[in-house]
Amino acid sequence: MKRNSGRFITVEGGEGAGKSSNLSFIQGLLEAAGKTVLFTREPGGTSLGEEIRELLLGHKHTGMADDTELLLMFAARAEHIHQKILPSLSEGAWVLCDRFTDASYAYQGAGRGLGQERIAALEAFVQGDLRPDLTLLLDLPVEIGLARAGARSEPDRFEREQNRFFEAVRQGYLEIAAREPERVRVINASQSLDDVQSQIERVVADFLEAEDG
Ligand SMILES: Nc1ncnc2c1ncn2[C@@H]1O[C@H](COP(=O)(O)OP(=O)(O)OP(=O)(O)O)[C@@H](O)[C@H]1O
Ligand SMILES: [Mg+2]
Repeated sequence: MKRNSGRFITVEGGEGAGKSSNLSFIQGLLEAAGKTVLFTREPGGTSLGEEIRELLLGHKHTGMADDTELLLMFAARAEHIHQKILPSLSEGAWVLCDRFTDASYAYQGAGRGLGQERIAALEAFVQGDLRPDLTLLLDLPVEIGLARAGARSEPDRFEREQNRFFEAVRQGYLEIAAREPERVRVINASQSLDDVQSQIERVVADFLEAEDG
């Protein structure tokens, strides 16, 4: 049963995979199909959430406990869901979000090693039955993503992690995709931007066809 009239689409993947680069492209595809699109991101998406984002990505608090990191992610998410995501969906907008709870499973669950159970408990607590309708997972080898991200800007608190962490994150994401192949569509993000966008175009077209058909 759909609890809202809009659809919730998330874009996931490791550092430098091309999530932010492809959001306006995806937005354009949806708008061309007549959808009203609200674009947002996590952590963040609200003024309170963006302040939490600063705490999470900045370098002010070194040695943050893994549990603190996880709870801050979900605190920002709770605000985001109540202030922005649910109201927009109920108005019929399609919400397009740069990262969501799959990132908590991948980064805090697999990367930090907190495991899935605690995240699943927070997911149930904070989200109720809200889940993305479609997730595009931009997958690429860790070193390519890090090289792209490194060329773009100074490393944030996550980008300073070791390769082993990012490998675990990548595997965490791929496990979700293997468990939920209907929802999570894997895009080979190591290709050129043009190639990545044609893969995205196919996935979005399939989704729109299934929704409208
Ligand atoms: N397919 C591609 N081929 C080559 N370069 C790319 C491609 N996609 C994105 N880039 C470049 O790689 C860099 C990282 O891309 P982007 O910021 O979109 O990644 P991201 O997934 O949002 O990263 P982060 O997780 O750090 O937010 C940018 O400089 C972007 O221009
Ligand atoms: Mg980004």
